Amino acid sequence: METKYWTVDKTVDNLQSYPQIKQAAHMLIDNEVVAFPTETVYGLGANAKSNEAVKKIYEAKGRPGDNPLIVHIASIEQLKEIVQSVSDTSKKLMDVFWPGPLTLIFKRKQGAVSEIVTAGLETVAIRMPDHPIALSLIAEAGLPIAAPSANTSGRPSPTTASHVADDLSGKISGILDGGPTGVGLESTVLDCTEDIPVILRPGGVTKEQLQEVIGEVGFDAALKNSTAAPKSPGMKYTHYAPRSPFILVNGDPVFLQELVDEKLAHGLKVGIFAAKEHENVFRASHVLSPGGFDDLDSVAAGLYDTLRRFDDLGVDIIFGEVYPENGIGQAIMNRLMKAAGNHIINQE
Ligand code: TXA
Ligand code: MG
Repeated sequence: METKYWTVDKTVDNLQSYPQIKQAAHMLIDNEVVAFPTETVYGLGANAKSNEAVKKIYEAKGRPGDNPLIVHIASIEQLKEIVQSVSDTSKKLMDVFWPGPLTLIFKRKQGAVSEIVTAGLETVAIRMPDHPIALSLIAEAGLPIAAPSANTSGRPSPTTASHVADDLSGKISGILDGGPTGVGLESTVLDCTEDIPVILRPGGVTKEQLQEVIGEVGFDAALKNSTAAPKSPGMKYTHYAPRSPFILVNGDPVFLQELVDEKLAHGLKVGIFAAKEHENVFRASHVLSPGGFDDLDSVAAGLYDTLRRFDDLGVDIIFGEVYPENGIGQAIMNRLMKAAGNHIINQE
């Protein structure tokens, strides 16, 4: 399949009337799949009402069929067509965080979207992305758009159009290139169907920000304890992983350097995923940093790109520093732990 590639300037007015957006919207209406930028990561979109269209997402990504998709909308009217009701808590959150990196779980209306989107669940995940290209594309298509991250399943999520092309070129109908995404990590998934809302996946909106608006917020037990079954089916899979083994190190730079030196002595090509502060302290085949301990927003923005760059460098093993878990740090450490398959070495 030939993949059409469009470049779009996200800052121009009246994007919806641009030919690139119109062509991409037409492909969605024709039940084809198209990748587009959001403020978190690039999404791989398809008509959420069509089984035929949604199947193409799973095929292109090689995604397990029991992992449901997020439905992206551009207006509150679209929400009302898909969900049974909107609680006061959800309303408050939508007022503050939509459009934005917060996905809310609702009880779904029967038949409103393809059963494949919800993977047999009674609920549906919905978000309104805060990106002019995403919003104008969805509005122009006039459809709810199912969209997971536009990467091959298991690989780091794409934060640029070239990441998408690396994974999916030839497998999808089109890619809208709107430049690098902003947040860099996926949306927070929040289940509001229970009395106390529960975070199923930490992401772009932090627990602290949610608590300021709605008070108590829980954290799915499976996120802390690897034996509990996650409520967000996607959280059980190895995710976001670079091709070479990735091991996190909870210790000081001297301790980490000793681990690296041992591998170097065996002739291995070793990468270090380092905090900015330590970039020039470490010695390895390649030292890359997404950002510093005091600038977690840049760490989030650069995390997936840094993991992908190690793949391009062909290292045999990567050691990574850990970041503090305050604010967006919670989502950063969640993704790093997954990328490492929970492999962490603690200094005695
Ligand atoms: O930022 C994002 O959320 C990006 C961009 C493209 O919008 N999308 C994204 O989609 O990350 P995906 O498919 O990679 O992750 C969706 C997550 C999965 O962990 C999935 O299990 C969960 O949302 N999910 C979807 N529907 C659900 C439901 N009804 N109940 C619980 N979890 C659900
Ligand atoms: Mg994903």
